[in-house]
Amino acid sequence: MTLEQVIIQMEIPKPYRHCTFENWQGDAGGKLNDILKAAQERHNILIGDERTGIGKTHLAVAALIHSWFYDLKDKYQYDASLYRFYSIRRLGFQLDLAGIRLEEIIDEVLEHRGCLLDELGAEPERATEKIELVIDELYLKGRQIIITTNLISESLIQKYNPAIIRRVTENGIIVNADWSKRK
Ligand SMILES: Nc1ncnc2c1ncn2[C@@H]1O[C@H](COP(=O)(O)OP(=O)(O)OP(=O)(O)O)[C@@H](O)[C@H]1O
Ligand SMILES: [Mg+2]
Repeated sequence: MTLEQVIIQMEIPKPYRHCTFENWQGDAGGKLNDILKAAQERHNILIGDERTGIGKTHLAVAALIHSWFYDLKDKYQYDASLYRFYSIRRLGFQLDLAGIRLEEIIDEVLEHRGCLLDELGAEPERATEKIELVIDELYLKGRQIIITTNLISESLIQKYNPAIIRRVTENGIIVNADWSKRK
């Protein structure tokens, strides 16, 4: 399977299809190794910074691909659709409008072994509780959760139930994307 096929199966959107560890520049403020290691071990990863264009989604996508590879390479099963990119903005809208389809959408998310939730906090306000429910279900089913967010940690625990945030990070790492922006 080619990298391109993997990326398409994971539904990684076009602007992020080039995002791998190989073409990352710099050491991400010394945090690159921690992210790599967490990905290899299928630990959760939360990458946060208010600044935009700092490479949060880039690293999260790279981690998703890396996790898939390390998870399934020994099992001779390379189904990359078991790992999935979700835009929280989009998922939030879907959940908000879902009505009776809510369970169906959540079941679909749970079919994956690992989920990237890109831009936590960008969902419509009315969907926040549903997003929490999705995260909780992922946690309870032992799925890997990779999150990017523009919210600083105080706003994260203000907006979401702190227990939900703790659950994501108890088996994983928090990365403050405090490195300087690439020129
Ligand atoms: N250190 C870096 N090395 C290589 N590419 C980088 C680096 N930093 C940023 N980029 C590139 O810059 C672009 C913007 O990065 P990305 O979308 O990951 O930022 P972000 O922090 O997620 O921003 P936002 O808050 O808007 O979601 C991407 O094309 C990404 O590949
Ligand atoms: Mg991003």
